[in-house]
Amino acid sequence: MPPSAPSLAAHLPLEQPPGATPAPPAIPDYLQDVYWWAYLHPNGVRLFERQWLVNLILWGNFSRLRDAVLAEFGTAINQRILQIACVYGDFTQRIAARLGAQGRLDVVDVAPIQLANLRRKLPPDPRIHLHQQDASALHFADASFDATLLFFLLHEQPAAVRRATLAEALRVTRPGGKIVIVDYHKPSPGNPLRYLMTGVLKALEPFALDLWEQEIATYLPTDSALVALAKSTSFGGLYQKVVISL
Ligand SMILES: C[S@@+](CC[C@H](N)C(=O)[O-])C[C@H]1O[C@@H](n2cnc3c(N)ncnc32)[C@H](O)[C@@H]1O
Repeated sequence: MPPSAPSLAAHLPLEQPPGATPAPPAIPDYLQDVYWWAYLHPNGVRLFERQWLVNLILWGNFSRLRDAVLAEFGTAINQRILQIACVYGDFTQRIAARLGAQGRLDVVDVAPIQLANLRRKLPPDPRIHLHQQDASALHFADASFDATLLFFLLHEQPAAVRRATLAEALRVTRPGGKIVIVDYHKPSPGNPLRYLMTGVLKALEPFALDLWEQEIATYLPTDSALVALAKSTSFGGLYQKVVISL
């Protein structure tokens, strides 16, 4: 049985939106049932919080995929950025290191243990704010952010939650802003990892193959007002980056 998530309130002050304090979000069933060992159990956090291991899981592509996100923002980020969901390794630290004087980084995660882990990885910085929120029901006002990042979150979510997460990302990102997504994608027929990855994802990540079969665009609300959607793939098609301009 998966353990219940430990309480964080005692050692991590988290930001709440103004007004009435909302109840902390429940841990979604898919996270508790499928991913408890990777994201909710303290031993899982201890094990996976290693740069070399997340890099190995991504077949040596972690830094390249991380840098592809960073490249969307230049060397000094003076925008308000929302990162939806924590990431093992130095993804968030690298964004934080590029924040300019006018920059601000907000990170949400539904799991207190993940936010506590991220807090340990970041220097104290008034421009960085962590929030315990569910990606599919964010508490931020419409158009609060210049850019929103989703790094390997969507493949972990059941389709309905993935749709709600994307709808929320669109809602909180301002017109003229962008959403940057990096995730799995269907490898090309000649990719030697194709069959191995089919087995791995089927066994461990039951919703991930959705992203092999369907474009991320198909999970966007039908009335989305997008200016552009640019998709590129890499590593024999196994990974995709999607940049949605609003
Ligand atoms: C971004 S994904 C996977 C990232 C990548 N595999 C890595 O190396 O860390 C994992 C994170 O998503 C968070 N998460 C999953 N579903 C969520 C949701 N509905 N709302 C907020 N956070 C969520 C988990 O708690 C976990 O911290």
